[in-house]
Amino acid sequence: MGLREVLDTHRVVVCVGCGGVGKTTTAASLALHAAMSGKRVLCLTIDPARRLANSLGLDEMTRDEQVVPAALFAEKGLALEGELSAMMLDTKSTFDDLVRRYASKPEIAERIIGNKVYEYLSGSLAGTQEYMAMEKLHAVRSDARYDLIVLDTPPTSNALDFLDAPERMADLVDSPAMRWFVQAFEGAGKFSFNLVGKGAAFLLRGLSKFTGTGFLEVLAEFITDFNDLFGGFRQRANEVAQALRSDDVAFVIVTSPNPLAMDEAIFFARRLEEQQMKRDAFVINGMRALFAEPSLQEAELAALVAPHLPPDVDARRAVKRMRRAVDDARTQAIADRIQAEHLRQRVGRDLTFVEVPYFEEDVHDLASLGRVAAYLTGDETMPTVIA
Ligand SMILES: Nc1ncnc2c1ncn2[C@@H]1O[C@H](COP(=O)(O)OP(=O)(O)OP(=O)(O)O)[C@@H](O)[C@H]1O
Ligand SMILES: [Mg+2]
Repeated sequence: MGLREVLDTHRVVVCVGCGGVGKTTTAASLALHAAMSGKRVLCLTIDPARRLANSLGLDEMTRDEQVVPAALFAEKGLALEGELSAMMLDTKSTFDDLVRRYASKPEIAERIIGNKVYEYLSGSLAGTQEYMAMEKLHAVRSDARYDLIVLDTPPTSNALDFLDAPERMADLVDSPAMRWFVQAFEGAGKFSFNLVGKGAAFLLRGLSKFTGTGFLEVLAEFITDFNDLFGGFRQRANEVAQALRSDDVAFVIVTSPNPLAMDEAIFFARRLEEQQMKRDAFVINGMRALFAEPSLQEAELAALVAPHLPPDVDARRAVKRMRRAVDDARTQAIADRIQAEHLRQRVGRDLTFVEVPYFEEDVHDLASLGRVAAYLTGDETMPTVIA
């Protein structure tokens, strides 16, 4: 199945991969293509970079859906049959929404949201961003305004973060440490450590020396309140984890031809398989062009280029340097192809692989996203060798 079919047969397409390989570019290009072919598409990004907004012709990404004006497509000569909206995911406000949904009383929700510990956790706890991306995805998945949702994920330093995030979030609320705190504080009366076991009381007093008085009270309040979310939150995390395995969710693994990125893509593919999630396609982005070996001898080339060089430049030496540059470029391009082949071999040839060339100019507007999309959907393919 090519990427065009992936777009046609899924409601959600998740672009994953390690840092800087072109996830945002791929997500935006896929969204653009689907919108141009008649779908109502939401491109959901976590990347606060202005780059995506600029590429889509928007001033900035916002937390609310923004429709990319049809006039911007027309300006670039692109025919738009559907509609493209973009939205930036905001981890904190997604988390706040969850807290409000699952707190048993509005006061508890507001107390949690106003708590300093929560403020810290909601922004910096490992995996929170990943989980919130999945959470938001789950929330917009049933939104009837969209035929297709394309999710651009954050750069995961550890490829596992994404897949494990919902389970990890559920484990956090159900962790022994959390339960210990809840019992200790509820049992002892919230702000008194008297009844907490001796060892624990000692530890807590020791801690407050470092953290300042008041911190533990804030922590205790947070943990007790947070516990109120427990049932709903855990169930939701399980639901989200399950939703990622459904048939209408496709995963596109984006990688560059760089060996380290490839290794991560292979590892990622294995993890998806282990977790019973699909690997719908691989995008190898930024493949360097393979130039043919020069067919002329150096002397012939020197004679050809000499008239175009300044008089003080020795044509033979210039040609030698050019040869070296061509040889280097060829070596790199061949290395890219070896890496791409290696990926096919390792993950299985039956899967879909798409190669996108490295463009000399940055991918920075609707027109260049359109060019990337042409390669993604197979309208254009990379030439084997450029003569
Ligand atoms: N095929 C390409 N040719 C040339 N430049 C590209 C190509 N694909 C992406 N780029 C450029 O490379 C940079 C990184 O791309 P992008 O932002 O899509 O990566 P990312 O995987 O989303 O990064 P991050 O992990 O930081 O979110 C951008 O400047 C983008 O315009
Ligand atoms: Mg990105």
